[in-house]
Amino acid sequence: MTGEDSTDGDGADDTPASDGTDAEAGAESVVRRERFAGGPAREFLSSLADDERIFAADLAVDRAHVVMLTEQDIVPEEDAGAILAALDEVEAAGHGALPGGEDVHEAIETAVIEGIERDGEVLVAGVGPAGGRMHTARSRNDEVAACIRYRLREDVLALLETLIEGRERLLDVASEHTETVMPGYTHRQPAQPTTVAHWICSYEGALARDTERLLDAYDRVNRSPLGAAAFAGTPFDVDRERTADLLGFDGLVENAMDAVSARDVLVETTAAAATVGTTLSGLAEDVVAFASDGHVELDDDYASTSSIMPQKKNPDTLELVRGRTGDATAGLDGLLTTLKGLPRAYNRDLQRAGRHAWDAVDSVTESVEVAVGAVATAEWPADRLAAAAGEGFATATGVADLLAGAGVPFRTAHEVVAKAAADAEGNTPTVTELNATGEAVLGEPLTAYVDAAAIEAALDPAENVAARDSRGGPAPVAVETHLDRATGRLDADGELLAEKRRLLAAAADELDREVNSHV
Ligand code: ARG
Repeated sequence: MTGEDSTDGDGADDTPASDGTDAEAGAESVVRRERFAGGPAREFLSSLADDERIFAADLAVDRAHVVMLTEQDIVPEEDAGAILAALDEVEAAGHGALPGGEDVHEAIETAVIEGIERDGEVLVAGVGPAGGRMHTARSRNDEVAACIRYRLREDVLALLETLIEGRERLLDVASEHTETVMPGYTHRQPAQPTTVAHWICSYEGALARDTERLLDAYDRVNRSPLGAAAFAGTPFDVDRERTADLLGFDGLVENAMDAVSARDVLVETTAAAATVGTTLSGLAEDVVAFASDGHVELDDDYASTSSIMPQKKNPDTLELVRGRTGDATAGLDGLLTTLKGLPRAYNRDLQRAGRHAWDAVDSVTESVEVAVGAVATAEWPADRLAAAAGEGFATATGVADLLAGAGVPFRTAHEVVAKAAADAEGNTPTVTELNATGEAVLGEPLTAYVDAAAIEAALDPAENVAARDSRGGPAPVAVETHLDRATGRLDADGELLAEKRRLLAAAADELDREVNSHV
């Protein structure tokens, strides 16, 4: 067989004819011109504009495939050299210079065969019919699946990098606020005093799991479907491991039908991104509420003003984080809706899958920086926060804990303090009032169990916090220990990310060297 044979295995893969001179989506192309003439549905079929996202990926996939084809004696060295040289020119010309076609795969192939001329200048010198050998032993089906994974892993790494940087900033700010007492809430009501550091670490901890999820997904994303052809393999003696290595993939999606059909890695990445989005939108909502209560002063960069109400300083960036991260949730829904019920093997619906993932990762990557930036640059008014932390008898649990620690069964202690809270009508009871409630419920004042100074301490928000030094609790000493552990986890994640980047860079260098040895 010659390199001009195509292994696109079904008629649906066929492509319109083309004059090959115009970057317009749906313009005719030299590839498979014999099958379909142009018509009104051509533009509808085209993903060329969306495919800009995988332009660089497609060039890399083409290069690795051609290098492998010539190493395997499937394509003559001379033709491989000419194709690889043309691919360099296509890269320099850019996605915008591509001739029309159904997609970037077809447009690049057309450019390699026919060349690109613009305003009388030759941007790509076409290889001629021998350029058609590039598509030997593959299909756009395995090609696009490889491009998606190649690009997706870059996006996962970019999101991971943003997350790791964001977590570092959060831990830095937290370390400055281990003693900044603030109200902690349940049901949006003041519940128990905590600290700004403890609140920040609650989000850093969630983002650390989000990081784990993405690191885990990365290993499944980073497998090569290339060499599966349309879905049914190929009679050519392809070396799938070789193209995988040249592209930095860590192994294969082995079954050819699975390789072209599978988009589960888009789903899990989008789900992980949507989970990050959910974490961030919770943080954003907290900050919006804090801003409205005067518990945080946002940096002007993260606020906006009203065009009519001169006094307003609104937390718009956080509101947009809340809104923008919704795009990731929507993306997950869109993706699952697109994929659900698709039969084996390739179906053109799949062309609509990638965009949901791209939008999800973009929305979340942007939002991490803004949400973290808002928290990291904000002022936390310590006095105001401390006063608010004690309001509404938020120290009540501390008093009950104190009694329970002195031998009163916790349920009884809860009952005493609950009655004192009801009697105080939303205020914090004094020691005298608490003693009176003790007499009423226990037959003895509270000072029969604990001394007055200890009760005063429990009623003081800072001391109340300091008492809760259990692992993961808000006491400054507990948070300090947590910060050490969290920093250790962050460093380990940073190393995993660096290692992945190092492996990809090494593969890219190797591909460059191989390409240069054939050009
Ligand atoms: N543009 C297509 C996509 O993104 C490429 C695959 C076309 N294959 C086919 N059999 N029509 O999915």
